[in-house]
Amino acid sequence: IPVENFDLIIFGGTGDLARRKILPGLYRRFCAGQMPEKARIIGAARSEMDNDAYRDFVRVAVTEFGGKTASEANVLEEFLQRLHYVPIDARGDGGWADLAKLVRKDVVRAYYFSVGPGLFGDLAARLTKHGLADDTVRIVVEKPFGRDLASAKALNQALAEHFDESQVYRIDHYLGKETVQNLMAVRFGNMLFEPLWNSQYVDHIQITVAETVGVAGRGGYYDKSGAMRDMVQNHLMQLLCLIAMEPPSKFEPDAVRDEKLKVIRALDPVDHHHIVRGQYADGPDGHSYRDDAENLRSFTESFIAMRLNISNWRWAGTPFYLRTGKRLKARSSEITVVFKDAPHSIFGAEEGRHRNMLSIRLQPNEGMTLDVTIKEPGPGGMRLLDVPLDMSFADALGPDAEDVPDAYERLIMDVIRGNQTLFMRGDEVEAAWAWTDPVIAEWEARNDVPKPYEPGSAGPEDAMMLMHRDDRRWREIK
Ligand code: BG6
Repeated sequence: IPVENFDLIIFGGTGDLARRKILPGLYRRFCAGQMPEKARIIGAARSEMDNDAYRDFVRVAVTEFGGKTASEANVLEEFLQRLHYVPIDARGDGGWADLAKLVRKDVVRAYYFSVGPGLFGDLAARLTKHGLADDTVRIVVEKPFGRDLASAKALNQALAEHFDESQVYRIDHYLGKETVQNLMAVRFGNMLFEPLWNSQYVDHIQITVAETVGVAGRGGYYDKSGAMRDMVQNHLMQLLCLIAMEPPSKFEPDAVRDEKLKVIRALDPVDHHHIVRGQYADGPDGHSYRDDAENLRSFTESFIAMRLNISNWRWAGTPFYLRTGKRLKARSSEITVVFKDAPHSIFGAEEGRHRNMLSIRLQPNEGMTLDVTIKEPGPGGMRLLDVPLDMSFADALGPDAEDVPDAYERLIMDVIRGNQTLFMRGDEVEAAWAWTDPVIAEWEARNDVPKPYEPGSAGPEDAMMLMHRDDRRWREIK
């Protein structure tokens, strides 16, 4: 279904995110027939170039990152005709009058700030000054949304001087992932799980976001952030919220975001004994984190594991274990809900522990597994065995599973539709930083040195111990 007619202006239109994600994503939506005939995309950046040069740039980007649709050359040429380019000076007045001439007032106008947060305030002010903004325009901003509570507040204020909260779309691309939204469908579309979704029945919950890539090429940014700021404060926090929140009354922006906010506010401060920070050491290719980050004395973590408690009626007593890291043994993101043991085993203690586990695989091989206990087939008496009820999206949905839009595609279309449900509200981001700040301050004060781990492993040994101490174990990363 096509969305309303729009002008989407991408500040940072020649940047890496535009090239890899935004423009190829828009192209795929174009191929899917979702872009109305008169919709336009306007790239704006510092480089001097004309429309044709920008179209050449986008042609290369789409061919490289557009996936299989990119091969249809005539469709691509048609798409490129929707593109325009305006050289702009974000900190001065150059180019703004040209942009003002181009942008239409009678269509949805969305300004995508695909630039560093240092420019958010400048762009907001210039949009207003040059008559490009009113209370109907939409502003899209990217992470990192600040690096602590104070800077996030300053960014929120800078935007609030010019725009209402209902106009601001803060992207966390994890919320655009199909399987992440599926978390809500699983929880609130089924009768089966919700009655058991609390500390009475759930022993613990694990969230793992493991990556195989290192930080080479983006060490300058990463070394000042680390896994806590880069992944936990935003992506893992969002996953935690969706898993732990109360059922919202409706699938609507504020209903969902109110519930997420309550989870973040109910998080206990984390004790430093419940955190393991790691940094990848030399691998077979001879590249350590410190080499990749080009900082041989770096104490920044490329891995973090932690145990969290949510102090509310639903979750008191059920720990949440989170871990994420670079250069681990596999790219695998998974959430596992481990249920408690049955209260009494009629089969005798020697049958050991059999636990139901619901595992939701976010990427890759998206799907769900529910481990159930059955009798081991055969004449050997009543032996118990855990087997998975397995559902993969690819099997269940067939070829449709391949047409699932990428996170950015979905989120950009949601901006045009004016639906903020999958975007973070300002108070949510601030609450996440308010929880993150003291944790980081504490390890900084102690000069905490991250534990080295081997690339291709599951992280430092201490992360295993974090679980073993509690008589629990991580799911294998595979
Ligand atoms: C980004 C982080 O937000 O998310 C990166 O800055 C990380 O460090 C990436 O690699 C992971 O995203 P995805 O979609 O590949 O899981």
